[in-house]
Amino acid sequence: MKSEMLLPKVLIPEAKIKERIHDLASEISFDYRGKDVTAICVLKGSFVFFADLIREIDLPMACEFMGLSSYGNKTTSSGEVKVTLDLTEPLSGKHVIIIEDIVDSGLTMQYLLNNLNARKPASLKVCSLLFKPEQLKSDIKLDYVGFKLGSEFVVGYGLDHAGRYRQLPYIGVIENERH
Ligand code: IMP
Repeated sequence: MKSEMLLPKVLIPEAKIKERIHDLASEISFDYRGKDVTAICVLKGSFVFFADLIREIDLPMACEFMGLSSYGNKTTSSGEVKVTLDLTEPLSGKHVIIIEDIVDSGLTMQYLLNNLNARKPASLKVCSLLFKPEQLKSDIKLDYVGFKLGSEFVVGYGLDHAGRYRQLPYIGVIENERH
């Protein structure tokens, strides 16, 4: 990153993310003990979280990648979702965990749950690093949540604003990007 660029303010430091991921991974490893799981990384935003989380999960696991892009503007989702990359394997009879970076209105997750449920997995759960409960506009249940946020727009640790900041090791706020 260029040194003259203003860095987002730290909201959740790297060490706190690491600690929380360790706890989430322990919970998942316990809940699915004795089972094989399929973990789905929802691109693009989840790639950093996914990579850190799966390496802490102590289970036999297959990794799949699904690309989604919302037709909304830069900071709000329309609920209309485009699949930019689909899975390479069927989900039928598998224990599937969706690994998501953030649930805001929940419209993207609602779309994804409908899409994946139609493939008849044995079970389907959601793990989201971040959740904005006050923004939720859909009737979805999140099984594992890292941190609850207010309505602030956050970046870093995989999350972007206009394609930038994904490489920051922490979750930050761009001061003038509240909505
Ligand atoms: P939804 O409103 O829950 O459908 O969220 C749609 C998508 O918007 C998420 O998967 C993120 O890619 C993006 N998004 C929502 N809130 C934020 C944020 O605070 N920072 C970065 N991206 C966000």
